[in-house]
Amino acid sequence: MLAVVVARDATPIPERGEQTPEFIEREEGGQVVYQFRNKTFRLDKAKARARLNGKRVINGLRSAELNVLPLKYAEAYRIYKQMKANHWEPDVIDMTKDAHQWNTGALSSRERWIIEMGVGYFSSAEGIVGDSVLHVIEDNLTAAELKHASLRHIAEESIHMDSLLHIIGSLNIDLDEVTAKFADIPSIRRKNDYITRHMPELKMGIDLTVTANKQKFAKAIFGITQVMEGTQFYALFAMVLSLHRQNKMTGVGQMFQYTLRDESNHIALGRYILTELIAENPDLWTSSFQDELVEFMREGVVLEKEFVADCLPEDGVGMTRREFLDYVDYNADRRLTSLGLPTLSNVRTNPFPWLDEVIFLRKEKNFFETRVTEYQTGGSVKNSNEDDLI
Ligand SMILES: [Fe+2]
Ligand SMILES: [Fe+2]
Repeated sequence: MLAVVVARDATPIPERGEQTPEFIEREEGGQVVYQFRNKTFRLDKAKARARLNGKRVINGLRSAELNVLPLKYAEAYRIYKQMKANHWEPDVIDMTKDAHQWNTGALSSRERWIIEMGVGYFSSAEGIVGDSVLHVIEDNLTAAELKHASLRHIAEESIHMDSLLHIIGSLNIDLDEVTAKFADIPSIRRKNDYITRHMPELKMGIDLTVTANKQKFAKAIFGITQVMEGTQFYALFAMVLSLHRQNKMTGVGQMFQYTLRDESNHIALGRYILTELIAENPDLWTSSFQDELVEFMREGVVLEKEFVADCLPEDGVGMTRREFLDYVDYNADRRLTSLGLPTLSNVRTNPFPWLDEVIFLRKEKNFFETRVTEYQTGGSVKNSNEDDLI
């Protein structure tokens, strides 16, 4: 949890995330030398200073080069490295057992419904996130390292969309039937409309020197990364991963496991961009705007609880509906707290502590370690001893 600091106008602003200690900078004559892990970069000092001085989250110098050096937002580069280290490919995940269970009546109708809701909801949600990060967030950012990390975020949403196609194809689900069925589920439509209704204006390009527009931009980042990815994805993830724990639909579960781990980086990146944006533009962080964000999350929580009720009409998959509703509150409050905002509930402990282990077991679930044979055969990994694949 990040502490809050008090700004000059007594409006609390979130404390900026810890800068990575891995990046070392020193001067040598007319050059600035940057050391990141085992790599060294040399830049002309005067040009590096000019680029650094022009860097802003928004309204900074724009460069077509997308050169992240000199790094001003080092944490974004660290998160990019973490995202890259977590890389995975959906279509090599074995779905044989899943297809067998799906087609031989091994699942209850309740369990099948959870998988269908997972495919139905995420088929649209992953696209909404990818499109919004591209046209709303990335387009408006001006600092190269923030754009760079956001582009990786967008690419990961494409991987998530691809994973759904892998599920649909492997289980032989009728694509049109799924699309039609889930477009008509009110709780899904309401969740999607609630996030996207603010987007068209931002996609057109707005003047981000105006405080009210900066707030719209900040609210969009909050909505996509903290409300949608950070709160509205998690209950369904937990349901599918609960099946996985019971040895049911383990291929789907494995993909959701990788996806959930990606989402934790997307949430961290969104929060980092937001805190840097606020630090550079304290005019946007008014108490009424903070209230607006809390209300936005409150609405998101209500919609998510309706959605949970649709996914799990009664207790099932080894957990109670009450636990899932608490899990929604728990996640919403974690996101609010991380930005120094007031919480909405009294749920302070994770009702599903085993899920944290699922997300953070990096080494044991390293995709390339478990898939090394296939990848080396395919010639895809040429530099397997690079430190960031560990
Ligand atoms: Fe995603
Ligand atoms: Fe995401």
